[in-house]
Amino acid sequence: MASISTSLVLVALLISLLVSLSLAGDAFVYYDFEVSYITASPLGVPQQVIAINGKFPGAPINVTTNNNVVVNVHNKLDEDLLMTWAGVFQRRTHWQDGVLGTNCPIPPKWNWTYQFQVKDQIGSFFYFPSTNFQRASGGYGGFIINPRSVIPIPFALPEADIVIMIGDWYTKSHSDLRKTLNGGKALGMPDGVLINGKGPYKYNDSVPDGIDFETINVHPGKTYRLRVHNVGISTSLNFRIQDHNLLLAEVEGSYTVQQNYTSMDIHVGQSYSFLLTTDQNASSDYYIVASARMVNETTWQRVTGVGILKYSNSKGKAHGPLPEPPQDQFDKTFSMNQARSIRWNVSASGARPNPQGSFKYGSINVTALFVMQNKPPVKINGKKRATINGVSFVNPSTPIRLADKHQVKGDYKLDFPRRPLKGSPRMETSIINGTYRGFLEIILQNNETKVHTYHIDGYNFFVVGMDYGEWSEDSRGTYNKWDGIARTSAQVYPGAWTAILVSLDNVGVWNLRTENLDSWYLGQETYIRVINPETAGHPNLALKTELPPPDNVLYCGALKKLQKPQRISSAANNPIQLIFTFVMIFAVILHVR
Ligand SMILES: *[C@@H]1O[C@H](CO)[C@@H](O)[C@H](O)[C@H]1NC(C)=O
Ligand SMILES: *[C@@H]1O[C@H](CO)[C@@H](O)[C@H](O)[C@H]1NC(C)=O
Ligand SMILES: *[C@@H]1O[C@H](CO)[C@@H](O)[C@H](O)[C@H]1NC(C)=O
Ligand SMILES: *[C@@H]1O[C@H](CO)[C@@H](O)[C@H](O)[C@H]1NC(C)=O
Ligand SMILES: *[C@@H]1O[C@H](CO)[C@@H](O)[C@H](O)[C@H]1NC(C)=O
Ligand SMILES: *[C@@H]1O[C@H](CO)[C@@H](O)[C@H](O)[C@H]1NC(C)=O
Ligand SMILES: *[C@@H]1O[C@H](CO)[C@@H](O)[C@H](O)[C@H]1NC(C)=O
Ligand SMILES: *[C@@H]1O[C@H](CO)[C@@H](O)[C@H](O)[C@H]1NC(C)=O
Ligand SMILES: *[C@@H]1O[C@H](CO)[C@@H](O)[C@H](O)[C@H]1NC(C)=O
Ligand SMILES: *[C@@H]1O[C@H](CO)[C@@H](O)[C@H](O)[C@H]1NC(C)=O
Repeated sequence: MASISTSLVLVALLISLLVSLSLAGDAFVYYDFEVSYITASPLGVPQQVIAINGKFPGAPINVTTNNNVVVNVHNKLDEDLLMTWAGVFQRRTHWQDGVLGTNCPIPPKWNWTYQFQVKDQIGSFFYFPSTNFQRASGGYGGFIINPRSVIPIPFALPEADIVIMIGDWYTKSHSDLRKTLNGGKALGMPDGVLINGKGPYKYNDSVPDGIDFETINVHPGKTYRLRVHNVGISTSLNFRIQDHNLLLAEVEGSYTVQQNYTSMDIHVGQSYSFLLTTDQNASSDYYIVASARMVNETTWQRVTGVGILKYSNSKGKAHGPLPEPPQDQFDKTFSMNQARSIRWNVSASGARPNPQGSFKYGSINVTALFVMQNKPPVKINGKKRATINGVSFVNPSTPIRLADKHQVKGDYKLDFPRRPLKGSPRMETSIINGTYRGFLEIILQNNETKVHTYHIDGYNFFVVGMDYGEWSEDSRGTYNKWDGIARTSAQVYPGAWTAILVSLDNVGVWNLRTENLDSWYLGQETYIRVINPETAGHPNLALKTELPPPDNVLYCGALKKLQKPQRISSAANNPIQLIFTFVMIFAVILHVR
C-alpha cells in the first residue's frame, strides 16, 4: 500500500515537473505546408498558380512573440523550392532564412522542416517562395506575430484581424515570365492586380464578366485591423477604401504615431497595419482599391485591383466611379512626403515592456558607410543583368556559412564595393564584410526610372531620410535622428536616395535585396556576413551568437556528396511503393478468401 502511494506521489511529482519544464520553455507552434500547383482563373483566364495546402493565398502563420515556429514544407512543385519569412528575423539562425545564400533548395518531392523562434518581435509580415521567380505565381501568405498578453498594445483591441494581400499579376506562369527575362526582354505591363488572390469587381465595362472578387464582411460601428501587404512583382500600388479613413498603426514590426490617411502608397514587399473604423451609414457597399502608381495611370488602368467592403447592414451594391487616387501625376513629392510622415511611436511598447524609443539610434556612431547605387539593366557577357554598385550578384553554389564550416574555398568574396564601381559591370558572388555590433549607414541611390523597395533579412533598420537627387555628406543634416521608423523594407524613388541605419547585432549572413522580383532575379542583391570575432576558437561562446546548422541541414554545391537521399515517405509520391502497397493489399485479400 505504502509503496503504491509513494510511487503515485513520485509519478505526480514527475508529471508536475514535466509540466512546469514545458511551461518554462517557449511554446512550439506547428505548421504543415504542402506547396503545389493548382489551376485558378483570378483574371478570368485559367492558369497555373502556386497554392499552400490547396489555398491561394496561403493561410496566415499566426503566432505570439517568442514562440518556436516549426514549418514542415513539402515541395510538390516540379522544381526547387525555398520558403522565406521576409521581415521575420530569425535570431542567431540564418540557417532558417530560406534564401539561396543561407539554404540549399528543397528538391521536388522532398520536404524540409524549418524551425526558428520569433524572438522579441511583433508585427505584420508575409512568407513567400524565394527562388525561381515563383512568387509571381503565388505561394505567399501572411505572417502575424502577436504580442504577449502582458505587453499593452497602443490601441483598443480590434474587432478582428483581416489580412489583405495585394499585388500586380500576369496571366503567364512564373516559368514563362522567367523565360521572358532570360531572353533579355522586359515583362511589360501586368495584366491586373489581385486582392487576396482574386480579380477586380466589375466596377465598369472595362472589367470582363464573371471574375470572382474579394469581399470583406464587417459590422457597423467597429474597428478592424487590416494587415495589407504588397506581394506583387514590381508595381507600386495606392491602397484606399471608398469613404473610409485608414488609421496607420504598425509598419513591419513597429508601432507608428497613429495618423489618418485617405490612401497609402504601398510598394512591392511592404506591409502596413491600418485600423479601419466602420463609421459609414452603409447606404451601399464600398470599393476597396489597389491601383498602379508611379506610372501613367491612364494607360495602366487595367492594373487596378477592386474588392468590396460589405457592412452587415448594407443597403446595396457599390456603384459609380472608383475613389480618386492622389492627384499628383505631376507632383513627384507627394508620395515621398507621405513616406516621410510615417513616424515611430517612441513611447509605445513593441515586443518588450520598455518603450520602442529606448534604443536611441540617433546617438550611435556609424562604423561604416555604403553607398549602394542600382542602375537600369545592362548586358554582361551577353546576358541582361541588373546591378548594385556595378556588381550583378551570382548565387553561391554552396550556402555561405555552410561553405565556411566546411572550408569550401572560392565560394564567395568579401569585397562588395562601398561605392559604385567605375568601369564595366561584372557578375560575381560578392558580399559585404559586416562587423559584429557595427552600425551601418546605407545609402540606397536609385538610378532607375521605377521605384525600388530594398529589404534586409535578419534585422529591422531605421529609415532616417530620403530625397531626390544625389546623396552627399551634407544630406545628413536632413536626417530624422529621433523617430524614424524601424522596419524591414524601404522604398527608393526614381532618381532619389533613401538613407537607412542598421545595427549589426545578429550574427549570420543576411540577404540584402530589391523586392522588385524582376530586378532581384537579374542580380540586384547581395549578403551581409556578420561574424562574432570573439568566438574564434571558443565554440561555446559561438553558440550564444550563432546556432550550429540544424540536424536536417541540406547539402548542395561543393558539399553535395554529404547529402543523403531523402526517403520519400508518402506512398502516393512513389510509384514503386504504390504498386508494392497494392500488391500487399491484394495478397491480404487473397489470403482472407
Ligand atoms: C519530412 O516530413 C516528415 C513527416 O512528414 C518528417 O518526419 C521529416 O522530419 C521531414 N524531413 C525533413 C528533412 O524535415
Ligand atoms: C490570430 O490569432 C489571434 C488569437 O491568437 C486571433 O485573435 C486573430 O484573429 C488571428 N488572426 C488571423 C488573421 O487569423
Ligand atoms: C481618424 O479618422 C476617424 C474618422 O474616420 C476619426 O474618428 C479619428 O478621430 C481620426 N483619428 C486621428 C488620429 O486623426
Ligand atoms: C447616408 O446615406 C444616404 C443615402 O441613404 C446618403 O445620401 C448620405 O450621403 C449618407 N450620409 C453619410 C454621412 O454618408
Ligand atoms: C498618359 O498616357 C495617355 C495616353 O497614352 C496620354 O494621353 C497622356 O498624356 C499620358 N500622361 C502623362 C502624364 O504622360
Ligand atoms: C472605368 O473606370 C475608370 C476609373 O474610374 C475610368 O477611367 C474609365 O474611363 C472607365 N471606363 C469605362 C469603359 O467606363
Ligand atoms: C503612442 O503609444 C502610446 C502607448 O504607449 C499611446 O498611448 C499613444 O496614443 C500613441 N501615440 C500616437 C500618436 O499614436
Ligand atoms: C561618437 O564619436 C565621438 C567622436 O567622434 C565620441 O566623442 C563619442 O563618444 C562617440 N559616441 C559613442 C556613443 O561611442
Ligand atoms: C572583414 O572585417 C574584419 C573586421 O570586422 C577584418 O578583420 C577582416 O580582415 C575583414 N575580411 C576581409 C576579407 O576583408
Ligand atoms: C543616373 O546617374 C547619372 C550619372 O550620375 C545621372 O546623370 C542621371 O540623372 C541619373 N538618373 C537617375 C534617374 O537618377
